[in-house]
Amino acid sequence: MPESFSKIEINFTYKERDFYQRLASLPHEIAERWREEYENLPEITDDFFIRFDQFCIFRNQAMDSSLELDEEISDEIRLEIEGVKKVVRETFGDPQHFLGNGYTAEVYELPVAPHLCVKYIHNQEAYNENNHIRVEHNFLAELRKFTVEGVRSPLPYFVRIHPSEGHSYGMEKINGKNLSQILERQSDNIELIAMLKTLDRETVKKNLLAYVTSLHDTCKITHGDLFQRNIMVDEEGKFYIIDFGKAKREEIGEDHEGRRKIDIATLTSEIGVFFNAIDKLDIV
Ligand SMILES: Nc1ncnc2c1ncn2[C@@H]1O[C@H](COP(=O)(O)OP(=O)(O)OP(=O)(O)O)[C@@H](O)[C@H]1O
Ligand SMILES: [Mg+2]
Repeated sequence: MPESFSKIEINFTYKERDFYQRLASLPHEIAERWREEYENLPEITDDFFIRFDQFCIFRNQAMDSSLELDEEISDEIRLEIEGVKKVVRETFGDPQHFLGNGYTAEVYELPVAPHLCVKYIHNQEAYNENNHIRVEHNFLAELRKFTVEGVRSPLPYFVRIHPSEGHSYGMEKINGKNLSQILERQSDNIELIAMLKTLDRETVKKNLLAYVTSLHDTCKITHGDLFQRNIMVDEEGKFYIIDFGKAKREEIGEDHEGRRKIDIATLTSEIGVFFNAIDKLDIV
């Protein structure tokens, strides 16, 4: 065998190994397309590997450029995001990391990023009836420093706009549950229920109402969806208002007075119903 020929062979063996390694990190359907093409090549040529290389470069660029980081985030969070950029896509649908869902979205924590979670829009059609993901993310950005009586909303970390894979945004993970989850899965939430039983519900209601009233008056924003599933409580008894997917800024010509009244009435009723249910639970 001529020497130059064996070098080419060694080169292709190396390239083939590298090709299969990189396939393993691609989503299944995409990897299968490339594998099939490779395995059906009449002759293995450099052209194929060059094309595959280019594809990987473009894909990485597309994934990176679609992730827009918020400016005001700490170095610690920035590092966490750097470490998980690639898993943002892959985590969607992984039951091990599922945190909660609603009508339009599913929320997952990210492996190896203890402070982050990602809201993925899965029902884009239904979501389109409400706010664009950027609008929802911008409300959180505006409320970054907004805390009233200890009540606040999650800090926003990044937006990922991706027309084919779906939009998502990253935010602070709240170490708690939404109020409906607590009532629906009581046995998973014994400690939270025990903690909630010790709270003064009138104070909780007053604090949440103070947050929402100030949201209306100071920030000129109405929430529009203040049901139990959009109120979270953490292990320390701190409350959070989440999900600004139906929120609106006060604009001339809109019935903001009506929206304000609905926010207050919904919140008051939801907190009352929630604590009545908590009181009835037989957990000490
Ligand atoms: N920052 C967070 N930290 C932890 N869990 C969260 C966070 N944000 C959302 N979740 C969980 O994910 C669930 C779904 O999120 P969200 O309410 O934003 O989605 P949605 O589809 O817009 O809901 P809806 O049906 O109310 O419109 C929440 O009810 C909550 O349980
Ligand atoms: Mg919700």
